[in-house]
Amino acid sequence: MILVTGGAGFIGSNFVLDWLAQSDEFVINLDKLTYAGNLENLASIEDGLGHHFVQGDIADADLVSRLLAGNQPRAVINFAAESHVDRSIHGPEDFIQTNIVGTFRLLEAVRAYWNGLDGKDRAAFRFVHVSTDEVYGSLGKDDPAFSESRRYEPNSPYSASKAASDHLVRAWYHTYGLPVLTTNCSNNYGPYHFPEKLIPLVIHHALAGKPLPIYGDGQQIRDWLYVKDHCSAIRRVLDAGKVGETYNIGGWNEKPNLEVVHTLCAILDELQPRADARPYREQITYVKDRPGHDRRYAIDAGKIERELGWKPAETFETGIRKTVRWYLDNQAWVRNVTSGAYREWVGKQYGN
Ligand code: NAD
Ligand code: TYD
Repeated sequence: MILVTGGAGFIGSNFVLDWLAQSDEFVINLDKLTYAGNLENLASIEDGLGHHFVQGDIADADLVSRLLAGNQPRAVINFAAESHVDRSIHGPEDFIQTNIVGTFRLLEAVRAYWNGLDGKDRAAFRFVHVSTDEVYGSLGKDDPAFSESRRYEPNSPYSASKAASDHLVRAWYHTYGLPVLTTNCSNNYGPYHFPEKLIPLVIHHALAGKPLPIYGDGQQIRDWLYVKDHCSAIRRVLDAGKVGETYNIGGWNEKPNLEVVHTLCAILDELQPRADARPYREQITYVKDRPGHDRRYAIDAGKIERELGWKPAETFETGIRKTVRWYLDNQAWVRNVTSGAYREWVGKQYGN
């Protein structure tokens, strides 16, 4: 059995679905169900059949200790986090609480549990911490991609809180010997992505006839990875990663934001043309830039390929097409997650 935290969010739910499709090992899923957590992502799983959901906070040390003692997992995979840069700019407090204090409490509960395990179980136990490339800061146009030895230079409250959590995980290995592995991954996209992030927001706004907001000049670069590839990389790190190491995960897909939005518009023009037959890219609107906006992220995913034999299965072209298809086929999911509080967020972030 494994314990997954944040398994009702975007990446966590994809991970749980893929895990259950490939393994008969039981998953306990601990998630607080913030605005980003959604049990509808897991609707295809019957609770009790390989999966048990528990609503709760990773910062609730008593609850986590009880879950560990009662279920005796062989691994913990920590996805739980506040994850949206723009929200971290409006209100950093939740990011400090979950990403830093929460990770600390989780590490302490896991350490106590691991200390109580016997020889073989103790040796086999793993704590996998899922983190981001944003901890490395911003690259210039010609800088080499981020390697695992790159200095941490986080620039947003989100990336600073994730950097702090990575440091805690590292310290729990060096000081207490806790068998940890950390992954730093680039921007994910795919099914169940909450439409506050660029790709699902653009698909949702395009179909709704709303403006497609481009921050600044739209020339900021991100490396994009299809979410299922991120999940397969985490499984590989869990199975074969060297304890105490970090692994960068990326898709070798550096793209300027404007190019990503043009690609989405072109796929939508083909799959779901506008009623007036005009191109979706006419909806593109340039808006005020994000404060402290990182210019470029790029991941050197050579280490995980060389040492663990992992490579992404999807190219950007195949993954983005699957993603647009998924959103077209799952409009009921989009409608449900974009009601209520979501509208308040869009009003606050984009105004009129
Ligand atoms: P998400 O915001 O979609 O999901 C986060 C999940 O964590 C939600 O289900 C939420 O309810 C849960 N959660 C939040 N606070 C919690 C708490 N205190 N206790 C328990 N559960 C809590 O995020 P995501 O995009 O799925 O990201 C998952 C992880 O991967 C995060 O740690 C993020 O930093 C990391 N990551 C994300 C990306 C990306 O592109 N989305 C890239 C690299 C790394
Ligand atoms: P986002 O999906 O928020 O991920 P991150 O900030 O973690 O990289 O944003 C991806 C890029 O798209 C980033 O450079 C910000 C930009 N962006 C826009 O131009 N407009 C938008 O409405 C959003 C949400 C993001």
